[in-house]
This record gives sequence, C-alpha cells and structure tokens, in this order.
Amino acid sequence: MAIGLSIPRIDGPAKVAGVARYAADHYPDGVAHGYLVPATIARGRIVSIDASAAQTMPGVIDILTHENMDRLNPLSLYVTPLDPMGASGQQVRLPMQDDRIVHDLEYVALVLADTYEAAQEAGLRIVVEYEAEEAVQFDYERTEAHTPVETIFGTLEGEYTRGDPDVAMAESAVRIEGTFDTPILHHNPIELHATLAQWDGDRLDVREPTQWVLGIRNGLAETFGLRPDDVRVRSEYVGGGFGGKGLLAPHTILAVAAARRLGRPVRLVITRALEFSAVGFRARTHTEAALGGTRDGRINAITMHMLAETPVFQDVAFEPGVLAPRHMYANEHMRADLALHACNIPAPVPMRAPGEASGMFVLESLVNDYAAEIGMDPVEVRRINRAERNPENGLPWSSNMLMESYDRGAEMFGWADYTPEVGSMTRDGKLIGWGMASATYPMIRTISAARLRAYPDGRVQVACAAHDIGTGMYTVCAQVAADTLGIDPSGVEVLLGDTNLPIAPAAVAAQSTASVGTAVQAAARSLRQQLDLGGVGGSIGEAVRRTGRASVEAMSETRPGDEYTRYSMYAFGANFVEVEVDPITLWAQPTRLVGVYAGGKVVNPTTARSQIIGGAVFAIGMAMTEHTIRDPRNGRTANPDLGLYHMPVQADMPEMRFEFLEETDPHVNPLGAKGLGELGGVGLQAAITDAMRHATGRRVRYLPYTPEALFA
Ligand code: MOS
Repeated sequence: MAIGLSIPRIDGPAKVAGVARYAADHYPDGVAHGYLVPATIARGRIVSIDASAAQTMPGVIDILTHENMDRLNPLSLYVTPLDPMGASGQQVRLPMQDDRIVHDLEYVALVLADTYEAAQEAGLRIVVEYEAEEAVQFDYERTEAHTPVETIFGTLEGEYTRGDPDVAMAESAVRIEGTFDTPILHHNPIELHATLAQWDGDRLDVREPTQWVLGIRNGLAETFGLRPDDVRVRSEYVGGGFGGKGLLAPHTILAVAAARRLGRPVRLVITRALEFSAVGFRARTHTEAALGGTRDGRINAITMHMLAETPVFQDVAFEPGVLAPRHMYANEHMRADLALHACNIPAPVPMRAPGEASGMFVLESLVNDYAAEIGMDPVEVRRINRAERNPENGLPWSSNMLMESYDRGAEMFGWADYTPEVGSMTRDGKLIGWGMASATYPMIRTISAARLRAYPDGRVQVACAAHDIGTGMYTVCAQVAADTLGIDPSGVEVLLGDTNLPIAPAAVAAQSTASVGTAVQAAARSLRQQLDLGGVGGSIGEAVRRTGRASVEAMSETRPGDEYTRYSMYAFGANFVEVEVDPITLWAQPTRLVGVYAGGKVVNPTTARSQIIGGAVFAIGMAMTEHTIRDPRNGRTANPDLGLYHMPVQADMPEMRFEFLEETDPHVNPLGAKGLGELGGVGLQAAITDAMRHATGRRVRYLPYTPEALFA
C-alpha cells in the first residue's frame, strides 16, 4: 500500500543535483534576452521615451514600448478558479498599450538583446519623461471611494446575513469590537517569474513556471488570437508559486509579443524588484468587526465589514476574508460584507490561503478577545460554540474533527498548564505568552483527467497537465498509481506541467490531491482491469508482454458529483503557539508551535508536513515581519527588495510539531483527501497575537506586529 507512505519526493534528486531544468534554464538557439524597464511614478502619463542611447548599445536587437508594441485582443479576467479551462487573465489591463501609468513599476519598455547583460545595460540608459498625477491610495476613511464587489471567486453576492445580527449584538452581555488590518504581502518565490517564448509559424511554444499551464495557454490564445491547440505551455518545475504564478501576467504577454516580432525565441526573467510589480500580491485589508456573546461563553452574533484594495482597472476581490468566518461557529446571527477601494496599485492575485489568512485573523482574534474578556479558556469557548452542522447552509459536515484537533493539540502543547492572567508566565527574565486558534480550508475538487501507460518491463507512466510547485505532486501521483496497481512507487514515472497532457486543474486552492489524485486512481483502476493482473501474479510487465503490445494505456476523466449539495466539506485544524517577549523592548520571538490537522486521507505525510510548514512560515511572516510599504506621498513601493521586505528566516521560526489526525471521509472524493496546501497558513496569526496579549496585556490588531505598535 503506497498511499500513506512517507517516501521522499521523487523529483528531489534532480533538483538537488541541479539537473532539473526550470523554464529560464532553457537557451534555444538564437535566443534573445529581455529586460523590463519599470515606471517610476504610480499614476500619470508617459510624455516621452528616449531610447536612442540604448538602441545603439552593442548587442541590442530591439526595444518595445507602447509606441511600437502590438495591439492585443482583450483578455478575460480570472474569476472562475475551479474550472481548469476557465479564463486566466490576472488583469484586464494589458501591457504597453497606451501612454498611461496606473501603478508604480508598471512596465514601460522591454529591451531585447543578445545577452541579458546587454539588455540590462541598455535598459538602464532609457530615459522616460513622465507627467505625474496624484496616486489614489488605500484609505478606509474615504468611504465614498468604495466600489461594489462585482465578482469574487464567483461566490460572493453582496452582503451575507443570517439571523438579526444588530439586535443580537445589542442584546449581548459582552461585546468585543475592533478594527483589524492585514498588510500588503508579496509572494517572492525563490525562482523569479520568467517566460521562454518561441514561435514556429503560427504555433507558439512557451515555457514558464506556472501553477496553471492550461490557463496560460487559453489566455495567450485569447489575447493573441490563436487556437488553443496551437499553443503549448510547459511548467515542469516551479521554484515557488504560492498563488503568485497562477494567472496570465503582463510579462508573459510581452515575451510572447517580442518573440513574434523578432522571429527569435525570447527569454525574459524579471528582476527581484519587479516581483513587486505586475505579478500579484496579497491585497491589504481593513476590517471593522464585532462579536457579541453571553457571560458563559455562548457567541450570539458576529459582524464583519471588510474593505480591501483593488486596482483602478478592475473589481475582483482576491482576499475575500468574509467567507471562512461564516461556517466556523454556531452563532445564530451574522453579517459579513466586503467592499473594495480602487487604488493606483498593480492587480492583486490569490496568495496562500487567500481570504482565510485575513478573515480568520479577524474572527479568531475576536474569539480570543472574547475568551479573555469573560475569563474563559479560549479552547473551551470554541468547544461551547461548536457548529454541529454548517450554520451557513444547514448541511452536515462530510467529516469534522475540529474538536479532536483541539484535544490533541492541547495535549501535545501542554495547554493544561495555561494560566490566563496577563504576564503570569515567565522564563529566564522573559515574558511567555500562549495563544491558540482554529484553522479551516474548504475541500475543493474539480474536473481532472489522467493517462496511465504500462510497459513490458513493468514500468508505469502517469501523465496529466497538473503541476508540482514544490508541493509533492510528482510523488503523490506515483504513490496513488502504485497503490492501485500494487507496485512500488519507484516503478512509476510521472509527467506533469504540459498542456499536451490530459487536462488537470490549476495548482491553486489546495485542490490538486483531491482532483488529480482521484483522476490518477481512476486511470490506474482502469489499467488494472485491462491488464487482468490476477492471471500473472500481479506482474505488470508480464501482463503487458502477454498482450504483445508496446504498451497498454488507460485514460480517466473524473469530476465531482452532487456531494457539494449534500455535505459541507472542510479541512480543520488547531494551532497552539508560545512566544517569548522581552519585557523591556517588547521584541517577540515565537518559540513553540503545535499544529494538529484533520485533512482527510494524507497520501504522503512527509510532503504534507512540508506544506503545513510552508503555510506556518507564511502566517508567521504575515503576523510578525512581512509587509510591503507604499510611500504615502506618491504611491510608490518603498521596499521592493528582500533587504527591506522582511521574509521570516530560520532564526525567526519556532520549534514546530505537527500531527495529522486519522480522518476517514467517504464523501469528499474516492481518495478521501482534503486539501492541506493552504491550511497551515490559517488562524496562526491570531494565535500569535493572542500570545502577545497574554504576555504583555497589549492587543495586536495591525499586522505585521512591530514593537512600536505594542508600545503605542
Ligand atoms: Mo493558492 S493562493 O490558491 O496558489
């Protein structure tokens, strides 16, 4: 049985040996190198571009600007993430189509040269003259600037209300109110965004680190007026995505346009600074929220009014924090709504646990503050308010081990020793704070296909257009196939990340194992049936040889049934954290983290744990170190580099202990797996800030935490 084994990732040796070739590791003959020149204003107009000095530099081939760039077909905006063949545009605003600038670092020129160095040197000599206008910046006091949310993951329609939240709030003996702010965060993968574009007549070949080869293909076909079948996109290895490599972005479009114009392959790698430009980020949010409850721990009402930023050219909320709080607790009364403020910013995109990260920070902070206010253990408050069914729609849970997560987490952490009084726990002259919070993430599954081939030597090949973005998908696919076929996973080869392969969804929303795993399992079952392994003692090679064919192939196409209408399907978990706070400087360091998760069947505990660690690092960064700062004077990005944007590092990390509960869920999908890729980044922010409150008596409601904020 290969499912459930902690086998090392099968793509690991290629990666550590340096033989795994990422998109920008390919150098086809005659390749031209691109260098993007960014705008130095956040809003205004290009008056002139003087490229004369750049044009005559040795090695320079061409320079694209809005003056000579091809005019493109409109691109459909991504609003249906669950459809593998859906629209994939990150933004309706296409690059270099006019002289307007609507956000800082917007691309104004693309230099193409024989070497990257020549392109860069020429790019630095391009002189752009601008007419700057005052940039619109996120401002939650200027409420008249709000725009309605038209679409949001296709799920949010205006204000969500249940019961009578205003009356219930007014009648509550205890009310917690607050405003909560979450920062602009950038994905900053180790591997920079890159595109290698190559035309062969009317056929286009693209290599790009992406979480969605089919989406990129369909988007490029749309905006360049091609048949999707004439576009091939490959993404075999991805050096970090986190939501920031999911959608068709302007640099890809520019590389493709340049390759067509030059009649040469074009390799475009953006700079680290441009990771803060048009490749997406987590939108800033500001939420007014309240919780009303009884003195004995029963939550009556929760209200949330969240404001998020959106670019001036489109209205899509990618940080819908008002969704997850609807289903967590049994409160009868609730209101949650989201508004957008259009600003001169690039387009936000999903970023690890998009929505849950900010929304659960708000909700779990309210619950922790409520527990502190009534002097009750925060775990006990959550137990009292357990939702027996999903209060949003009345559907039963397909499975829900939230209570067991609390139990096991509390046991592993030693929560029984918690003393609630502020500052009551100390160690070696430091204040010790403990905090906890719940985690949740929906089980998402979409249409997915897979192809399996068995060969006379007993090897099996799995192929589909899914992606391994560091998540372990190569390994998980091998395990699922091996499990069904009764062979060792080392005998399975896996091909992913190629639009020529059977369709699979984007590697987003923690859906890959449930969707792709199910497709691989179905194809493996069909292969098993065809091979009739019973007559050959289980030998795949023998079974294939008996057919006299070069290989035996099985295909599957799987899709969810009506389970969504019958069950409410979520993964749950609990985080417990300890922080150590210096009593003089209020410098805080997380020292211990325990996370217990119930995410259905875990195919590979090692790669699953790696996902949870990644989520926890994201949450710690969001709570304690990371934020992108826009200059209030001009809307420009003040810290577009890794020296000033503080990603948490190893020294910032606590000791981490994670456990997955055994959860059997026959309803979610044939594999019984829920998603784990986003769950680790949910709720932990509020656990950390409540630990700060426990240590110091001060509440942190503005992320990331800084000592100055605690002093204020
Ligand atoms: Mo995930 S933010 O949906 O890649």
